[in-house]
Amino acid sequence: MDFPLSRQIAQDLTFVAETGSTNADLVANFANAQDFSVLVAGFQTAGRGRSGRDWLAPAGSSLFVSVLLKPSLVAANRFSWIPLLAGLAMAKTVAQFLPNKKVSLKWPNDVLVESNKVSGVLSELLPDLSGVVVGAGLNILQTKAELPIEAATSLVIEGNSDASIDAVLAGYLQNLKELYESWVSANGDAVQSGLRNQVIESCSTLGLSVKAILPGEQELLGKAVGIDDTGRLILQPDSGAEVVAVAAGDIVHLRHN
Ligand code: BTN
Repeated sequence: MDFPLSRQIAQDLTFVAETGSTNADLVANFANAQDFSVLVAGFQTAGRGRSGRDWLAPAGSSLFVSVLLKPSLVAANRFSWIPLLAGLAMAKTVAQFLPNKKVSLKWPNDVLVESNKVSGVLSELLPDLSGVVVGAGLNILQTKAELPIEAATSLVIEGNSDASIDAVLAGYLQNLKELYESWVSANGDAVQSGLRNQVIESCSTLGLSVKAILPGEQELLGKAVGIDDTGRLILQPDSGAEVVAVAAGDIVHLRHN
């Protein structure tokens, strides 16, 4: 498979027909790869999802892409914005391909069409802390029967059956590059670069009652009331306790208040 549109945006783009996980491959090879190197697969046999889950999709049905981000001008304590940045880039891309649908970011980096998940992002820190591999899976051609859960969707199911994997990837890489370059120019300051405001605008988690499943399986019920300067989700617990800043965890959207 060739990627003429995507190669115009990312000069260092490699396609493999099949691999275990594009994230695993880029993490293993990070020392030899430059900033914004892209690895795309036609099929993954051991795709990784968040929280130790799998990410599986039939061959040729979807986008599996990882991008190496090594922002030498940004301190590692600001890398917490990279997952949100990539999720926002994907949300913008999906919105471009589904202009009549409500597309949003579910904190930190799932992309929803209405309330169904169309894309997920897994970010993995490099062993020497010099950057992050950001991997995205996007459901493009799957039918309902080919999706792993009821609350999932694809571009085809949502009415776009013309989108080629190259066109979608090029859109994502363009959005990712623009957001990344403006964030790097601000030395990783997401407030100054406007990234935080854009994430807030796109994030449908805000204002909802949610269940947060925190590392260690501890659960917290509350209302999502904000995103702080480091990208953490601010929750007002239903118990009336002080607000909690959630840095990592799974969020379940419960209802509007
Ligand atoms: C999630 O759980 O929502 C995140 C899924 C991330 C899947 C992508 S597919 C390309 C890249 N390689 C992987 O092994 N995982 C990510």
